[in-house]
Amino acid sequence: MNTDQVVRTFIEYFEERGHRRITGSTLLPSPGDPVLFTTSGMHPLTPYLEGRPHPQGRRLVNVQRCLRTTDLDEVGDPTHLTVFEMLGTWSLGDYEGSLSLGWAYELLTEGLGVDPGLLQATVYGGDDRVGPDTASLRLWQERGVPVELTVEDNWWFNGPVGPCGPDSEIFLWSGEGPPRSTPTRDDRWVEVWNHVMMRHRRLEDGSLVPLPQRNVDTGLGLERLVSLLQGRTSVFDCDVFDPWRRLLPAVWPLDEPSFRLVCDHLRSAVVVLGDGVRPAGTGRGYVLRRLVRRLLTVLWRDDPSRSLEDLPDELVGHTLDRFRQDVGPGGVRRELLAEEQRFAGLLRRGRQVLARPRFRGPLTDDDFRYLHDTHGLPRELVVSLRQE
Ligand code: SER
Repeated sequence: MNTDQVVRTFIEYFEERGHRRITGSTLLPSPGDPVLFTTSGMHPLTPYLEGRPHPQGRRLVNVQRCLRTTDLDEVGDPTHLTVFEMLGTWSLGDYEGSLSLGWAYELLTEGLGVDPGLLQATVYGGDDRVGPDTASLRLWQERGVPVELTVEDNWWFNGPVGPCGPDSEIFLWSGEGPPRSTPTRDDRWVEVWNHVMMRHRRLEDGSLVPLPQRNVDTGLGLERLVSLLQGRTSVFDCDVFDPWRRLLPAVWPLDEPSFRLVCDHLRSAVVVLGDGVRPAGTGRGYVLRRLVRRLLTVLWRDDPSRSLEDLPDELVGHTLDRFRQDVGPGGVRRELLAEEQRFAGLLRRGRQVLARPRFRGPLTDDDFRYLHDTHGLPRELVVSLRQE
């Protein structure tokens, strides 16, 4: 199955069970939200998990584009992408978690063809505030799926305050040969689908109060699921990356870790630009700037003459289509090139300034401040230029 078929199978399965598809999936949270980017499918639904009636009803399904910068340093590993799509389902005070887990098992094994013997689940084991999730435990035992109980790993929250609750995570074995060990002890168990029994709200003082309704919030990373279904060893090998693997090596021959970082950051930059963000020194624009500068640093490490001018149009177009963004590739490319020129200018200036005798020795905080305030050179950049 390719990615589009997996999405279709997922959406149809839940539509047949009374879920309405939410449309629109911008990366930009609504005004007043302190978070820079949408990090999960549930994020835009927070007010509805807290009890506000959703205009489309109590059963929802969607495909949400997400950006997680917490994983930026893990980029290149087999299971993380900065920008990715998340399939999600919600029961807003309607059905319970065990029904949702039963559907997940059926969809994975019958709809998507996963071998049931390659599944394991984790379930919340309980602490002194919230008891163990016996309903989920029972469901998995009835299905014959091995279960591991944990406490911290099976408690989901999206921030210091807000909706939260125990979760049950479904793992798929990605190793060679028969499954071994358990998800917390062997990372060949890859988490594919998380079900959060979203019933609590955490307050500022850390205490928990019940939400007005018992919700179920589920999410699964699309590229990760697809790569496992396609028998690939990393997200960078699923069909989403076929055009990248076909076109990029001819333009920039890169080793595998650099290829992964460049693809990840370029896709992310394109999607962030596609949602209307522009490079800047703070906030969302700064995240975008960091993505572009990190990928240029990798490209220029081997060959400083490389330029985003050579980025094939098809890759920009393919990414905008994949994320259903209704903007043309021309404007996105122009922004990428303008940022490249700004960065190249900054590096030139940085090298000239740092060559002055005053900056040859160890730098003080005052030096860093001066370099930043007078020459626009961020500390991070100064540090990397001095390592050249
Ligand atoms: N909120 C959960 C997650 O992001 C499930 O959607 O994993």
